[in-house]
Parts: sequence; structure tokens; C-alpha cells
Amino acid sequence: MKKLITTLILLLPSIGFASGGVALQHVNNDLTDNDSLKAGAQLFVDYCSGCHSADYVRFQRIGKDIGISDEELLKDFMFSADKVGETMSIAMDKADSKKWFGVTPPDLSVISRSRGTDWLYTYMMSFYLDPSRPFGVNNLIFPDVGMPHVMWDRQGWQEAVYEEHDGHKVITSLKLIGSKDKAEQYKKDVTDLVNFLDYIGEPAKLQRLALGWKVILFLFIFLIFAILLKKEYWKDIH
Ligand code: HEC
Repeated sequence: MKKLITTLILLLPSIGFASGGVALQHVNNDLTDNDSLKAGAQLFVDYCSGCHSADYVRFQRIGKDIGISDEELLKDFMFSADKVGETMSIAMDKADSKKWFGVTPPDLSVISRSRGTDWLYTYMMSFYLDPSRPFGVNNLIFPDVGMPHVMWDRQGWQEAVYEEHDGHKVITSLKLIGSKDKAEQYKKDVTDLVNFLDYIGEPAKLQRLALGWKVILFLFIFLIFAILLKKEYWKDIH
């Protein structure tokens, strides 16, 4: 028992610092905002689906949920599939991608549930220049990541700002180099993208949340009737 407690205590810091000690940035995404979800879907097909699949998601379902017509889906969202009933899989061969990136880019269908939305937002904000890496970039929250900074044209490049701590160089922050006028738009882009990843992680979440309220309301009304009924029954007994 003592051993178990010691192990748990030793494990605690590693759970708390699961993100490598980097503070997560909070994303304020809104699953009911269809414009944001649509923008996120567009960014996903333009920037991510070349390497990452979302095998559990069908284009048609997205279209129906977010409000994109079949024609629009075919024209703007589907490059590797030709029927709206297909899933968002990719044509890239797994062995090839392993050769190119060292790892196969994982399927992103449920990534928002395994990593959390704040982690995803922080990840997309945390690429910085590092000439020692194969693609010239590293990531603050995912050290030595095998993924290039694919949205560099929207964000620009970031440089790490170092500080000396007990003889070690530690990164204290990231600094955008060059023009900063895209910064606000990039934050919105990443919010939309994370919103979309949150949605595909559980497409039924909205319905579930809406249903939850209805159930609570029903139970509340039922409670009033139950109280009135109880009063009525006990009236004769008192
Ligand atoms: C050029 C190929 C490529 C593109 C394009 C790409 N990725 Fe990646 N991505 C990778 C690879 C390779 C990894 C695995 C990194 C590793 O494990 O070192 C990865 C990993 C990730 C992870 C971490 C998964 C984990 O292990 O938890 C996330 C999240 C992610 N990508 C999101 C995105 C998003 C969002 C986009 C679009 C904006 C995108 N990726 C575009 C190649 C790519």
C-alpha cells in the first residue's frame, strides 16, 4: 500500500506536466457557429488532409451538419474522393509517409478528444524555427515533431527567445518575425480549425447537449407534478 502511494505521488508531476511544462493557451471555439466550422473544414482540406485522414468522418455528414450543399462539397472540399458518401481518407501510402516524415501522420478523427482543444490550439501556435530539425521547425509543446509548419504562409515564422537558467538555455517565449498584421487572422484560423476538429471528434455533441437540456426540463416539470401529487395524496392522511 505504502509503495502504491509513493508511486502515485511520484507519478503526479508527470501527469501535471503532460504538455511538457508549457502552459496551454485557451481556445474559445463555438460548436454552434457554422461559419467557423465551415472555415475550419476548408482549412482542414486545404492544409491537413494531404497527410492526415479523418477516416471516421463522411463528407455528406459534415455537409448536412454544417450546412454545405453536395455541389459545394464536391467543388471546394473534396480533392481525393469523388462521392459525398465517402470518408475523409487520404491517398498517401502509409509506408511512404513513414519514409518521408519518420512517422505516419495519425488519423485526426478523434484527436480533439485525445489531446483536448486547448492542446491543439497551442500546438498550432507553437511552431518555431530550428535549423537542427529536418523541416527546419520544431514545436514547443511537441518537441522534435515530425510535422512541418504547414500553415506558415498564414502565420509567418516564429523564433524562439532563450534565457539562461543554471547553465541551460531555456525557451521563454516565441517571437513572430517579420510582419505581424496576420497574427489576429491566424488566431481566428486556428480557432476555426480546432472548432472543426472538436466537431468531428464527436459530431453528435451538439444534439447531445441540446437533448440534455430537454431531459432536464422534462424532469423539472415532472418534479412539480410529483410534488403536487404528493400533496394531494397526503392531504387526507394528515
Ligand atoms: C506534410 C504532412 C503533414 C501535414 C500537411 C499536416 N501534418 Fe500534422 N502531422 C504530420 C506528421 C508526420 C505528424 C506526426 C508527428 C510526430 O509524431 O512526430 C503529425 C502530427 C500531428 C498532430 C499530433 C498528433 C499526436 O500525436 O497527437 C496533430 C494534432 C496534427 N498533426 C495536426 C495537423 C493539422 C491540424 C494539420 C493541418 C493544418 C496538419 N497536421 C497537417 C504531418 C503533417
